[in-house]
Amino acid sequence: MAVTSPERRVWWNEPVERVELIWIGVALLWGLFMFFFMIAWHFIGGQNLSNETYRVVPSAYQDKVDAFAQKYQVGEEAGTPVVRPPAGVDVYLLARLWQWWPVLQLEKGQSYRLHLSSVDWQHGFSLQPTNINIQVHPGYEHVVVLTPTEAGEFGIICNEFCGIGHHTMTGKIIVVDSKAGAK
Ligand code: CUA
Repeated sequence: MAVTSPERRVWWNEPVERVELIWIGVALLWGLFMFFFMIAWHFIGGQNLSNETYRVVPSAYQDKVDAFAQKYQVGEEAGTPVVRPPAGVDVYLLARLWQWWPVLQLEKGQSYRLHLSSVDWQHGFSLQPTNINIQVHPGYEHVVVLTPTEAGEFGIICNEFCGIGHHTMTGKIIVVDSKAGAK
């Protein structure tokens, strides 16, 4: 029984069982393999995005996004501007309680520099269903190079709890294939 003392008082000098050593070895090697494979995933899995990050004053970021949206707005969806920037330019997305703003319309196969920041709290940018996740903080501007490979509508949800309206914090990126339309 566990409540009785061990038969030999000094039990910890016993040699470790061979099978146990093997298991510790296997677990250690697997752990190391997984650790270094994080670097490999960056190249072969397209994960762990490389991004640039800059300090920014939230109100200055908001001004940039407003100017961007005004310049390239092509429509409106439920009160949110739909913005279609020309291929290759810097595109801006703003997180705030509780929306991703504006709706972006991008072209398949073109690369964009996507800027991301928050003007209030911490939010989580999660692009569905591709499973790209980026933390979005006020005061920091992330720049990610984005090249849509598929046409369609992609939802953005917030995956960092940000208060009572967290579950309503959604947005959208529309990817259009202009080549397919021309045929
Ligand atoms: Cu923003 Cu949750």
